[in-house]
Amino acid sequence: MKRGYSESPSSSSHGPPQSKFKHNPEGDTHFLEDESTKIFARKVADHYSARTNQTLEEREASPIIHLKKLNNWIKSVLIQLYAKRGDAVLDLACGKGGDLIKWDKAKIGYYVGIDIADGSIEDCRTRYNGEADHHQRRKKFSFPARLMCGDCFEVRLDRVLADDAPFDVCSCQFAMHYSWSTEARARRALANVSALLRPGGIFIGTMPDANVIIKKLREAEGLAFGNSVYWIRFDEEFSEKKFKSSNPFGIKYKFHLEDAVDCPEWIVPFHVFKALAEEYDFELVFVKNNHVFVEEYMKKPEFVELMRRLGALGDGNQDQSTLSPDEWEVAYLYLAFVLRKVPY
Ligand SMILES: C[S@@+](CC[C@H](N)C(=O)[O-])C[C@H]1O[C@@H](n2cnc3c(N)ncnc32)[C@H](O)[C@@H]1O
Repeated sequence: MKRGYSESPSSSSHGPPQSKFKHNPEGDTHFLEDESTKIFARKVADHYSARTNQTLEEREASPIIHLKKLNNWIKSVLIQLYAKRGDAVLDLACGKGGDLIKWDKAKIGYYVGIDIADGSIEDCRTRYNGEADHHQRRKKFSFPARLMCGDCFEVRLDRVLADDAPFDVCSCQFAMHYSWSTEARARRALANVSALLRPGGIFIGTMPDANVIIKKLREAEGLAFGNSVYWIRFDEEFSEKKFKSSNPFGIKYKFHLEDAVDCPEWIVPFHVFKALAEEYDFELVFVKNNHVFVEEYMKKPEFVELMRRLGALGDGNQDQSTLSPDEWEVAYLYLAFVLRKVPY
């Protein structure tokens, strides 16, 4: 069914997957989740569910307002580069629907948004329906949408979305790292995207840059580091600051970002992400740290103009203030990636 309605795919109704993909057998045996994995997934869901919508004034007063605008610019650039008129889009971990307007501008034809946090899906639905919430403009979107609450890294989405597939574009913004708690979840995430994209379809995303985080950890005196707007803390088990290449999953840290995030996250070594993605028939188009991304796309006039309108990197003129050095440091913690499902 390709029309906006709500539902909640229950993960318990899906048994262990019989995927057509070539899984690592060890990964498969862990497809059924243990209790601690579920507890952490719930912690993440509860954290995001509890975050209420802000008024426009509250948003503008945020200590990371320019970082939020910069992240919106990065996502807008990715969407403008890869979404085409009429595309069917799958937005994994769509949150409160902050990207709906970006997809509308790209004139997509259909949208499916899924998030584990029921509060966020409710906000997303409010935004999509154009109801008067207290900080968004009323907006009528030109594309039909299906919004669902569910765990994108556990549920077999190819079954849930059998009638909606194939998609042209899949987007997973600032969320892929929540799949890296176990190999099984990481594989489920990639298997889901691969099964739902058409051959040649595009997978865009943003997530923490493991190289930067590990480098900062090693430079820090203890197991924590940060600045006035964020901190990251690793547990004692990582006191040697060494990570076995034989087990690149489940490397947990606590992330706090003022006015945004306060929950467990997992390191995603990008070379492992890329290798695993290749097993699921993806090829890497590019990966760029967000600093490099900004530098490169700010060479293009159309994106400079977009940046001016969003106001992340103001120049002090026309009342535009700019990103603080501490916010810019947070931008360095993230990367943007583009994968293509092989076209055969
Ligand atoms: C930093 S927010 C990003 C939201 C949105 N993609 C954006 O860019 O505005 C991370 C989102 O990931 C969602 N999330 C975390 N784990 C998830 C999971 N297992 N399945 C679906 N969504 C998940 C959270 O609920 C939250 O909305």
